[in-house]
Amino acid sequence: MLKWQPARTKSAKRANKQLQLGDELDLEITDLNSKGEGVGRHKRQVLFVPGTWLGEHVRVRIVEPKKSYVQAELVSILQASDSRRDALCPYHGVNEKTCGGCPWMFIDYAAQVYAKQRRVEEMCSRLGLDCPGTIQASPQELAYRNRAQLKASADALGFVAARSDQIVDVEQCVVLSDHNNALLARIREQDLGIGRRRKTWVTIDIADEVDFEHISFNQRLPFRQGNTAQNQEMLGWLTKVLHGLNCKRALELFAGSGNLTQALVASGVDDITVVEVVPEALDTLRQSLPSTKAFALDLFDKTKLSELVSLSADAELLLLDPPRDGFALLGQLVSQLPSLKSIIYISCDLASFERDVALLCDEFSLLELQPLDMYPQTPHVELMSVWSRK
Ligand SMILES: C[S@@+](CC[C@H](N)C(=O)[O-])C[C@H]1O[C@@H](n2cnc3c(N)ncnc32)[C@H](O)[C@@H]1O
Repeated sequence: MLKWQPARTKSAKRANKQLQLGDELDLEITDLNSKGEGVGRHKRQVLFVPGTWLGEHVRVRIVEPKKSYVQAELVSILQASDSRRDALCPYHGVNEKTCGGCPWMFIDYAAQVYAKQRRVEEMCSRLGLDCPGTIQASPQELAYRNRAQLKASADALGFVAARSDQIVDVEQCVVLSDHNNALLARIREQDLGIGRRRKTWVTIDIADEVDFEHISFNQRLPFRQGNTAQNQEMLGWLTKVLHGLNCKRALELFAGSGNLTQALVASGVDDITVVEVVPEALDTLRQSLPSTKAFALDLFDKTKLSELVSLSADAELLLLDPPRDGFALLGQLVSQLPSLKSIIYISCDLASFERDVALLCDEFSLLELQPLDMYPQTPHVELMSVWSRK
């Protein structure tokens, strides 16, 4: 027998309709996504709105209605967050003509730090882990970046725009160190001949350790942690942790030029095996830390797993600091290292960290999770964690 159902009125149909390109609506921002964009909900649809903050009421316009979420743009702020401020940079913004480097520049630094802490705490509660330590804020919210990659075309030198692949022409950048701003100014004075190059885009890596005469085009510098003061904090934390663990044989993955390896050496770890894929980084590491055994291996190639295990099958400590993709092979590797007592996992991406450590929780307990803010004005958060076999 058919059940009676109320006739659907026109307004009810309208209320259930999917949002369309160009639609405008009022929205409350209740969350932030991994890109740092405001998240709001309309009926069952989730909307992402760059340039908005937790608790704000905003009018938005739909720019990209997708199946799983809807991308929207800010039309006007109906009720602003108390943490909103005038951005400290003239190039800041969320459109195709403004710089995409610092998406949180419009929010007070204290509120940025609070939001990062909140995201880490939410992750811990999803994983059933104890509360993390209080995030270590950066001593400088500006002028901290010891390196950056500039993009240059025939008519612009700067950074990629927020919502396009256009280059925003930038004269000075408030998050760059003084040295890097001086390099930027000198590069701008030169005729780079970019218009005559075959490629329309050129990349120029600048860094505190590079002087003007040694700048090169389209050549990526090996990795370096981008905030010198916060890197020192990280090394201090690692040294303290290593002291407590007292391990003799360590395997370090994603070692770069040996930034963290130096703490292993200084802490008296006797037998250190390191793995990294970039040859220039490995050369630097071998020169500065000759007592370590350094190997070039692509750690994202799963066919290399047994080779990796054989490099340090009796390691007691695993130290890893992968790029944003994390290390999806972590569970498999750990299951083949029976001598492993401790793991120190340093991560620059919450999502991949959550995926990777979810596999550890059965066999390892979390001893400490310390968040750190390496990149003010962005949603990125660094996690430093120590795990011990149960
Ligand atoms: C976040 S950095 C950490 C580097 C170093 N721990 C430090 O503090 O400077 C990640 C490192 O992983 C390296 N890497 C990226 N992809 C890799 C791969 N497929 N295999 C091995 N190493 C890789 C990068 O070259 C980079 O040095």
